[in-house]
Amino acid sequence: MGKGKGGKDKGGGKGKVKGKGKDKGKGGKGKGGKGKGGKGGKGKAKAKVVIEPHRFAGVFVSKGKDDSLVTRNLVPGESVYGEKRLAAEAEEGEEKVEYRVWNPFRSKLGAGIVGGIEQMPVKPGAKVLYLGGASGTTVSHVSDMIGPEGVVYAVEFSHRSGRDLTNMAKRRPNVVPIVEDARQPQRYRMLVGMVDVIFSDVAQPDQARIVTHNASFFLKNDGWVVISIKANCVDSTAAPEAVFASEVDKLRKDGCKPKEQLTLEPYHRDHALVVAVYRASKKKKKDE
Ligand SMILES: C[S@@+](CC[C@H](N)C(=O)[O-])C[C@H]1O[C@@H](n2cnc3c(N)ncnc32)[C@H](O)[C@@H]1O
Repeated sequence: MGKGKGGKDKGGGKGKVKGKGKDKGKGGKGKGGKGKGGKGGKGKAKAKVVIEPHRFAGVFVSKGKDDSLVTRNLVPGESVYGEKRLAAEAEEGEEKVEYRVWNPFRSKLGAGIVGGIEQMPVKPGAKVLYLGGASGTTVSHVSDMIGPEGVVYAVEFSHRSGRDLTNMAKRRPNVVPIVEDARQPQRYRMLVGMVDVIFSDVAQPDQARIVTHNASFFLKNDGWVVISIKANCVDSTAAPEAVFASEVDKLRKDGCKPKEQLTLEPYHRDHALVVAVYRASKKKKKDE
């Protein structure tokens, strides 16, 4: 299993587009904060921005003094949680495209990409089951990444966060919000189709079981599992590396073949992201 390297991923070098920075958004700390919308384009034009495609489809890099990760906004003119938007113009001067800045401090998936994860099954057209959607910060970037052909089923059991998630989904047709307990996939089985990827960020001690239980319902054979593990949510007394190893072991026992593990430091302390491929055993499928 490959180990992540850390450090910044510079992204690919093709297809440069230039444009203007736009609408700072609130940039605040509140998780569920809504962006201003900026319909009238009041935000003052800022420095020139150059956007390059990242090596992962659906992700881009805004080049500047400090490079930042961005996704192409599925709903131009709107921020989701106060994030900054950048308007870029294709070189031929034709179509205007808008991007949203993705802060790795606010997203495990974003941190994994910036940290140099090697495989990214969340891509244009993918069907994703997202466990632990919270208010939809990362879900919204997944929605940008998968684009109009993809779908993200976002499960969140807190009603408060679920409300923000549901509101966000009203503007994003590829997001299906599900306010339910991810431990009870049978409760939402009528809403969710078979998926290519399960992404999990529930921060629960039984997260490995939650993921594999959902996989047995919804994940294709050879589908992908991407799980963020917060060590002290599983065992606050053990060393994080030992917790990660034992969680990987649990995944392995339940049909997931680990492919990659990387630390989410410095963005998320004592967190690791594990990427695995799922292969349900015949016995398990029959039992379900
Ligand atoms: C670390 S936060 C997720 C942050 C989110 N992934 C993001 O990047 O924006 C964990 C979320 O998982 C939710 N959660 C925890 N246990 C859950 C469960 N059993 N079912 C559904 N959601 C759960 C919590 O309510 C919380 O919103």
